[in-house]
Amino acid sequence: MSLTMQLLILVLLPLAFLLPPGSQAGEIIGGLEAKPHSRPYMACLSIQRRGKTYICGGFLVAENFVLTAAHCNGDEIIVKLGAHNIREWEQSQQTISVCHQIPHPQYNKETTNNDIMLLQLAERAKLNRWVDTIALPRANERVEAGAMCNVAGWGGTSTHCESNSARLQEVDVLVMQDAACPSNGPYHYYNASTMMCVGDPKMGKDSWKGDSGGPLVCGETAQGIISWGPPTPPGVYTKVATFIPWIEATMRRLKP
Ligand SMILES: *[C@@H]1O[C@H](CO)[C@@H](O)[C@H](O)[C@H]1NC(C)=O
Repeated sequence: MSLTMQLLILVLLPLAFLLPPGSQAGEIIGGLEAKPHSRPYMACLSIQRRGKTYICGGFLVAENFVLTAAHCNGDEIIVKLGAHNIREWEQSQQTISVCHQIPHPQYNKETTNNDIMLLQLAERAKLNRWVDTIALPRANERVEAGAMCNVAGWGGTSTHCESNSARLQEVDVLVMQDAACPSNGPYHYYNASTMMCVGDPKMGKDSWKGDSGGPLVCGETAQGIISWGPPTPPGVYTKVATFIPWIEATMRRLKP
């Protein structure tokens, strides 16, 4: 796939998700502000790629590992943890650079299959009431269609964590049957073994908020990663449960 297409995926998809027609840049229409620090696992990624800066979400899965989407890779990534308002200085925030980006070895830029990446942090995060890990599902655990989960993000309408005015926003989303992402049309590359189809089309644009790479949280568990989709729901999330063996093996391998 061409560089242009890669950049389109990185840049346009979050915009498509986050900017319903008529909304203002930097604003999430109908978004609910999260209770400050109610999601201590949330990470804001500031990604440098070929001289440009992009934003993605991510989530802390160990003191020194953040999970995100593989399409959020870059030349350099800085992770901000413990934030509510990423534009302001907050005593809760920890900013840590990424020393090692490990995209899934079978990540396919063209089909967006296996869109998952581990980021090893240069220093361990200090876990406290503002910064904490989230649980991962058991390998191959299933989330049934009809489950209500939620996503959060700072709204990737800006290209930089620091210049984004948004406080953390959240929204509830419905897990759909795989058939709601049919392989004709925009869901051509949907793969039920590695992806989840999430977001009720009847709920419209409100079900699409959050940044690429951010977690789909069902109960207490990070079951999905915001990955790709057309401008309207449902959208496609990476199915985390499929990747548990890879996540565990990779973290074990990189343990200092
Ligand atoms: C779905 O993804 C799996 C895992 O990457 C892969 O083995 C399989 O071939 C894919 N299926 C299709 C139809 O592309």
